[in-house]
Amino acid sequence: GQCLLLCGGSGLGALLGVPCDGVASRPSLQSAAPPIKTDNPNGHFEYYLRECHYSSEELKDIEFIYRFIFNKLEYARYNSTLNKYTGYTKHGVYNAKIWNENGETDKQHTNVDSYCRHNAELYFRNILSYTVEPSVRVYSEKSGSQRHSTMLVCSAYNFYPEGIKLTWLRDGKEVKTDVTSTEELYDGDWYYQIHSYLELTPKSGETIACKVEHSSFSEPKVFKWGGSGVAGAVVVGAAAFGPKGYRFTFYLLLLHL
Ligand SMILES: *[C@@H]1O[C@H](CO)[C@@H](O)[C@H](O)[C@H]1NC(C)=O
Repeated sequence: GQCLLLCGGSGLGALLGVPCDGVASRPSLQSAAPPIKTDNPNGHFEYYLRECHYSSEELKDIEFIYRFIFNKLEYARYNSTLNKYTGYTKHGVYNAKIWNENGETDKQHTNVDSYCRHNAELYFRNILSYTVEPSVRVYSEKSGSQRHSTMLVCSAYNFYPEGIKLTWLRDGKEVKTDVTSTEELYDGDWYYQIHSYLELTPKSGETIACKVEHSSFSEPKVFKWGGSGVAGAVVVGAAAFGPKGYRFTFYLLLLHL
C-alpha cells in the first residue's frame, strides 16, 4: 500500500512553494480538524495540495507531489520523480513552463528530504506506532443457555489500533468451548471495542480470568473475574505478542465543495 500525507495550503503564499510546516506535536486521538469547506457555495475555491508518497517503510523512492487546484480542476502538478511541473490547462501549461525554467523545480525537489523524509520519521513514531491500552471489564450476565448458569463477559473498550486477542482462562488453563466473541467493533473515533462471552457453570474455588493481548501492552495482561465484578490486572508470563507491523493504510483525503 501507500501512505499519503497531505499538507495543503491556500492563499498566494503557498503558490511559490513555501515548504510545509514541520509536523505539529504528538497527534491526539481525541480531536479531529473540522472539514474544509467554502464559505460561499457560489464562490470559487483554489487550493494547493502537497503530498508525500511513501511506497516502502525503508523510505526509498519517496515521491513529493504538489498539486494546484481551482474549483476541483487540477491545472498544474509538480512531480519530484520527474523533477518537473506539468500543466493541464492553458493557464497551467503557461505557469509550468515558467516554473520549469526559473529554478522552481530544484527548490521543490528539496521537499523530498527536508519535508517528506523528515516528517515520515515523526509520523511513523507518533502515528503508525501509536497505541492506546484497552479498558477491560470482566463481569457476569445471566446465561440464556439451558446447559449453563452463568455467562461471563470480557469487554475491552477504547483500544487502538485494532488487533486484539482475548482468551478465557479457568485456573490458568485456556478455555475454548462455549466461547463466542464479537468482531473488533470500530467506534468511529479511532477506538475499537470487543466483547467475548463464556458460558459456564462456575465451580467453587476456581479462578476465571480473561487474558488480553494487544500491541499497547508489553506483555499479555490477565483480568480476573471477581465477585465484585471489578477486574484486577495481573501481569503474567513473557510477551508473546509484539507490536503489530507498520500498516500503510493511512489515507487522508481532502475533499471540498
Ligand atoms: C510522477 O512521475 C512518475 C514518473 O513518470 C510516475 O510514475 C508517477 O505516477 C507520477 N506521480 C504522480 C502522482 O503523478
